[in-house]
Amino acid sequence: AVADIGVTGMAVMGSNLARNLARNGFKVAIHNRSAAKTEKVVKEHGDEGEFFPAESMADFVNALSAPRVAIIMVKAGPATDAVIDELASLMDPGDIIVDCGNSNWRDTVRREAAIRERGLHFVGSGVSGGEEGALNGPSIMPGGTPESYRRLGPMFEKISAHVDGVPCCTHVGPDGAGHFVKMVHNGIEYADMQLIAEAYDLMRKALGMSAAEIGKVFEEWNRGELDSYLIEITADVLQHVDPKTGKAFVDVVLDRASQKGTGAWTVQNAAEVGVPTTGIAEATFARSLSGSVPERQAGRGLPAGTEDVSVADPAAFIEDVRRALYASKMVAYSQGFELIRKASEENGWNVDLGAMARIWRGGCIIRAVFLNRITEAYERDPKLPLLLADPYFSGEIGKSVESWRRIVSFSALTGVPIPAFASSLAYYDGVRAAELPANLIQGQRDFFGAHTYKRVDREGTFHTLWSGDRSEIEE
Ligand code: 6PG
Repeated sequence: AVADIGVTGMAVMGSNLARNLARNGFKVAIHNRSAAKTEKVVKEHGDEGEFFPAESMADFVNALSAPRVAIIMVKAGPATDAVIDELASLMDPGDIIVDCGNSNWRDTVRREAAIRERGLHFVGSGVSGGEEGALNGPSIMPGGTPESYRRLGPMFEKISAHVDGVPCCTHVGPDGAGHFVKMVHNGIEYADMQLIAEAYDLMRKALGMSAAEIGKVFEEWNRGELDSYLIEITADVLQHVDPKTGKAFVDVVLDRASQKGTGAWTVQNAAEVGVPTTGIAEATFARSLSGSVPERQAGRGLPAGTEDVSVADPAAFIEDVRRALYASKMVAYSQGFELIRKASEENGWNVDLGAMARIWRGGCIIRAVFLNRITEAYERDPKLPLLLADPYFSGEIGKSVESWRRIVSFSALTGVPIPAFASSLAYYDGVRAAELPANLIQGQRDFFGAHTYKRVDREGTFHTLWSGDRSEIEE
């Protein structure tokens, strides 16, 4: 047994993670169901470090030095369960199985409990950054026991991205915490992408700008507070020209967005714990709407009732869009962090929110300068109930809110759909409202279902006898 760590599953993510480990000086056992892929890695990249290719799972496990650490990088779902079972049957107490796929956190909770029963450790770890991140330094979000992190953590911290010398990896919390946080990362990724797409759509439809011109605007934005990987690649994608037709690349791409499910999981989980993640929800549903072909065909002829609002000052309009984008982005992140906080409380995970922002500063898809502001906010107040209420965020929103309202009213009048911008503003107005119309909802619920209500002037729970003499009884 010689290898420090092993990776099974030699598709692109798995082989890149293995290569990253090897390049960082770790001895890496590698395995794949069909040995051809393992051989290919050794043949093409064998000079990058020390690889120990294994043909069978038993050889793979035997190659690992104790306590063994084996990373699984296969498709989430039943394939992952099958590999876990096979590995667990070959391993010894104290060994660590690490699932780096995009698994559902509830599966991770279940697997962790089952593996712990067998005396082994199970770590569900989020890994973000796509193929390139896996190779050159991802953001890594491991769950599992502190004991397993003591063995695994130093290796993961070494291969992760680093920002200001700080690794983009930390122990997130027990059992499913790592995969939960990765799920929310993806939800925020959806929101970020949708907001950027809405900004693009506004410039396109309101100002008639070309894709390349808008790309230049994003390039400019990337030099300010919006500086982020997603804005950077947006500038690049918008300026790319389709080699076949010579048209802007985005003009030859069908407007139907796909999704693999992590956005929808985030929305489901948010609904279950009652945290309004409207930015993520709108982004997820906007993708669904884009792909609803018969519905969109049927809807095309619906009355518009729009007004022809001309934009007097395009530069001022673009600045309004930028500010609306920044404000909506703050809402989406604030909502995502509230979701992590709530889930952490409910599951007893004790997740350090500032540390999550810190490990997302590099390596991952949502990496951005802005995440430093989130870390600072939680450093100022680790118990911050609402990220937006932090002085930095409330100050920034204060500077942007008028622009935001102008953009949302412009889109309402002209019919450019900006669901994430608009619903983020509605959330913002809701969360800062002194009073909400939920009093009426309570009245309706009590009327038809005797669901009771609380009063503003007295403690207790009450019900009005709506179909009787309408007197009030205390429950
Ligand atoms: C990452 C990405 C990665 C991925 C997802 C989302 O953090 O590296 O989030 O996990 O691209 O699969 O993909 P969909 O857009 O297909 O849901």
